[in-house]
Amino acid sequence: MQQIQLTENIYYVGVNDRHTDLFENHMELPNGVSYNSYLIVDEKVALIDPVEANFLEEYLFKVKSVLKGRKVDYLIINHDEPDHSSTVAAVLREYHEVQVVGNAKTFAPLEAFYGPIENKVIVAEGETLSLGAHTLQFFMAPMVHWPESMVTYEQSSKIVFSNDAFGGFGALNGGIFDDQVNLAFYEDDMRRYYANIVGKVAMQALKAIEKLSALEIKMIAPSHGLIWRSNLAWVLGKYTQWSKQESEEGVVVVYGSMHGNTARMAEIVARGAAEAGIKEVKVYDVAKTEVSFIMSDIWKYKGVVIGACAHYGNMFPNMTLLVHEINEFKPKDKCYATFGGMSWSGGGVKTLAKYAEEGKWNLVAESVEVKGAPIREEDWDKLYNLGKAVAEAVKG
Ligand code: FEO
Repeated sequence: MQQIQLTENIYYVGVNDRHTDLFENHMELPNGVSYNSYLIVDEKVALIDPVEANFLEEYLFKVKSVLKGRKVDYLIINHDEPDHSSTVAAVLREYHEVQVVGNAKTFAPLEAFYGPIENKVIVAEGETLSLGAHTLQFFMAPMVHWPESMVTYEQSSKIVFSNDAFGGFGALNGGIFDDQVNLAFYEDDMRRYYANIVGKVAMQALKAIEKLSALEIKMIAPSHGLIWRSNLAWVLGKYTQWSKQESEEGVVVVYGSMHGNTARMAEIVARGAAEAGIKEVKVYDVAKTEVSFIMSDIWKYKGVVIGACAHYGNMFPNMTLLVHEINEFKPKDKCYATFGGMSWSGGGVKTLAKYAEEGKWNLVAESVEVKGAPIREEDWDKLYNLGKAVAEAVKG
């Protein structure tokens, strides 16, 4: 049986999830996701971060087929979230004497999820654990993605097991390593993962990157997505760019529209932005495109135009989730404008403007609120000029 090896004694034993529709039950997974796990076989055997519970049978089969009767000595828990940890109890049942390795913040949540754990090893920043020829070293990465998150560095192979950091959506389609695939296929799914999971803690992600930069790294092995061995500079560059919120030239036009009138306005706004020279104009209907995709492009591009029709004096309901996510994740330094339809009450644009103020974005044009449909020349011009103003601010 052919095993997937990172080095002679370090194995990939992860699984692909092509079944789950929604990651964390709210983000779509059109390309699936992988839960990566790694096995280091030495005088002692270490299993690094297990997988999601629905894949237990496949996972244990993979582990056992590498170990051929040997036992797991250490189970390393870099992160408690159940997409990795929900097989912990089963692994403990399978390997009774395994010692579970985490840091001072690991075990309270882990035991709250899965009950008491007997054999604990608590490691601190920089501490090492010898497996024989391999030595694990632990570095804390708080809030990337939870308070207890840490990364594990194997000193002889110079591999960083980074858990959520440097991970991405997208199941692994045969290619496990970055040099076995077309990276362009994975980039969008990586940024979407970043923008919706890591982006909220961009500063902590940056600190983790700075901390890792002191190490000699030959491979980054995250718990989702590709293993990085040939394009380390590329992935570090992307993560640094996203963490520093260095956005690209482009405009996202996102709208919520009940009867198509605010949608017609969005088309005019987009046309204004395109004619002002923006080649990357992305138009989204918030009722059709799941919010994580829109957040990903908001993270990417400098310009954001949000349109909402009124709904009982407030804004179109589906827009509320997007605005909530924007306020929660706080993408920075956007050139921003709002527009929308009044319906019979107005209020959609007013509510959007309130959120814009809270978000401290750079409002570059006066909001446009249209009665009925955009059929009057003056409304058409205002919307077109709004798109143009955002485009010019982005280019400026
Ligand atoms: Fe992949 Fe935060 O768990």
